[in-house]
Amino acid sequence: MERAMNDKVNTMFAEEIGQTAPAGLSEAERQRFFVKKAAGYVAEESRALGRPLTAAVTTFGCQMNARDSEKLSGILREIGYRLQEEEDADFVIFNTCTVRDNANQRVYGRLGYLHANKKKNPHMKIALCGCMMQEPGAVEKIRNSYDFVDIIFGTHNIFKLAELIVRSYEQKGMLIDIWEDTSQIVEDLPIQRKYPFKSGVNIMFGCNNFCSYCIVPYVRGRERSRQPKDILQEIERLAADGVKEVMLLGQNVNSYGRNLEPPVSFGELLREVEKIEGIRRIRFMTSHPKDLSDDLIRVMADSKKICRHLHLPLQSGSSRLLKLMNRRYDKEQYLALAAKIRKAIPDISITTDIIVGFPGETEEDFLDTLDVVKQVQFENAFTFIYSKRTGTPAASMDDQIPDKVAHERFDRLLKLVQETARKRAGLLTGTVQTVLAESVNTQDDSLLTGRLSNNSLVHFPGTPDMIGGLYQIALLECKGFYYIGKQVKGELEDE
Ligand code: SAH
Ligand code: SF4
Ligand code: F3S
Repeated sequence: MERAMNDKVNTMFAEEIGQTAPAGLSEAERQRFFVKKAAGYVAEESRALGRPLTAAVTTFGCQMNARDSEKLSGILREIGYRLQEEEDADFVIFNTCTVRDNANQRVYGRLGYLHANKKKNPHMKIALCGCMMQEPGAVEKIRNSYDFVDIIFGTHNIFKLAELIVRSYEQKGMLIDIWEDTSQIVEDLPIQRKYPFKSGVNIMFGCNNFCSYCIVPYVRGRERSRQPKDILQEIERLAADGVKEVMLLGQNVNSYGRNLEPPVSFGELLREVEKIEGIRRIRFMTSHPKDLSDDLIRVMADSKKICRHLHLPLQSGSSRLLKLMNRRYDKEQYLALAAKIRKAIPDISITTDIIVGFPGETEEDFLDTLDVVKQVQFENAFTFIYSKRTGTPAASMDDQIPDKVAHERFDRLLKLVQETARKRAGLLTGTVQTVLAESVNTQDDSLLTGRLSNNSLVHFPGTPDMIGGLYQIALLECKGFYYIGKQVKGELEDE
């Protein structure tokens, strides 16, 4: 474990803090010690103000960040903060993303609003963490232009939130603690889940793939898999707590467990998760096409619990660009893989991510992308305009594509994606499907919104007490990308 930058700011940090926690504790025990200590400070401030202190966690970016935010929320709750959504809280933390530049710009914009809140409430503490904080340039900019921020930390030490809060009560000025990488995985800290009935579960951290456009390996560090026993124990606990659906999370779940001793495959892990009673649905994100094995297809086809949905990022349909992107598959391999999956699991829905405007992308390359979309007929595709990320190999490639060309291609791609997705969307109309009721419909509160195994949404008449249950729903009609349905039987019992 290294502490990278900003030594000037808090050189004494670890040593000083170390002295306040008893020696010989595990990292989780140390953090529980700091949770108690922070709780003391928060209670004291709350008494002085004559009201409870509030905290808000705002998440940018992907499912990994959403899960990290649940960990941050769990720690804040233990410390005694009342969690709320609104950012006028006493403690506000932004869990940031830096995968594309617009994610960064949103953070800077929102910081402006926070500053106004802080002027009204001088007790307010503002913390920033997550992927963007792993970029020295971003941290430098915040130090120089947003000096009202109290705490900055990164992706490798989110478990230290309580310790950092203690420190910020004891020290004036901006506190910065960023690690360059870590081999540490700290288990067993409190977690505040967003949904009672479904949960993300990290199975691995980091990424080793270094796709040439992507900043994630630099900000999330090297790939580290959790031990299967820790993952299974976490899922057993979630099941005991009423969770019915788990989403196994990793940047490339298909390479899960390769570096464990002894090695374990993702398929083997899934077989074990399948056995856990109470868990009714299993999802996972993200699958890299280069590592998707026949064994995984078999496990999915045989499973009663693994959902009929695979997110399989394509990025580009051009073999030439895929090589430059360092994706390590070509157009034909991707097409063959998608066809094999559709054949083995006919009711599966395949979704994808696509980038347009990668350096050097020609009209011919782009037509290859359109061709793959036509052939695979994705149920949905997330489309992105290439964003140059400093420090990645693609950032220094010749022939960056002008914005106008990228936007024009983006619009053409989106149109085709919507056409093909719409064609596939209605395929289940007239059938009865199992649906997990997830929320009250935002437009009409006599309806619930639920999800099919293939990730499609369905709206059907129901009451809030049904949320979290699995129901048999007849799909009456497909409206564009969602279904309208009606319940045909009561709540499903565990099989
Ligand atoms: N690990 C996942 C992706 C994580 S990032 C995978 O390999 O599929 C999510 C998506 O953001 C990527 O699939 C890619 O399509 C997009 N993305 C990543 N870097 C980008 C960049 N520099 N510009 C535009 N889109 C990017
Ligand atoms: Fe980025 Fe590629 Fe890793 Fe996905 S697999 S996080 S796109 S480097
Ligand atoms: Fe963004 Fe970090 Fe996820 S850069 S996409 S939040 S891993």
